[in-house]
Amino acid sequence: MDSRPQTKTSPAAHGTQDTLGTIDAVIAANRSLAGALLPMLHGIQDLLGYVPSTAVPRLANALNLSQAEVHGVLSFYHDFRTVPPGRHILRLCRAEACQAMGCDALETHLQQQHGLSFHETAQDRSITLEPVYCLGNCACAPSLLVNGEVRGRVTQEKLDRWIQELRTTAGGNS
Ligand code: FES
Repeated sequence: MDSRPQTKTSPAAHGTQDTLGTIDAVIAANRSLAGALLPMLHGIQDLLGYVPSTAVPRLANALNLSQAEVHGVLSFYHDFRTVPPGRHILRLCRAEACQAMGCDALETHLQQQHGLSFHETAQDRSITLEPVYCLGNCACAPSLLVNGEVRGRVTQEKLDRWIQELRTTAGGNS
């Protein structure tokens, strides 16, 4: 889930033919797989940046499931987004090594200084903050991903600098 391609659509494209076409193409490409729902959900999010509500009845219909069953899977896995993300995605590691090296203080800093909370997007839609659990970069904890790129030994000062940069640059979320 950490090296997703760039978002291909905008929030306004939620129900457009392009979006529906993308959903249908992902469904068609994965239809023959065993346990096809998860690959379909991942495929849709990879291409659209999130899983729009319009995907749910199409997935249910394709897999002969109820919409409640699709919703159940979608909401069970926290990696799936049901709303469009910001232009950039920060994923702060909350696993043990990063906890020991101060990720909680970074989380508080993000919230208090930048108005960023987990699973939320900044009002200017520049940044979405998500938790992640170990990036394999424990020796350089605390760690985070900036648009899929691992960064270590994160400090509040570095965060301030990166966020300032991200707020003024175009999209690159993954
Ligand atoms: S615990 Fe954060 S990178 Fe391993």
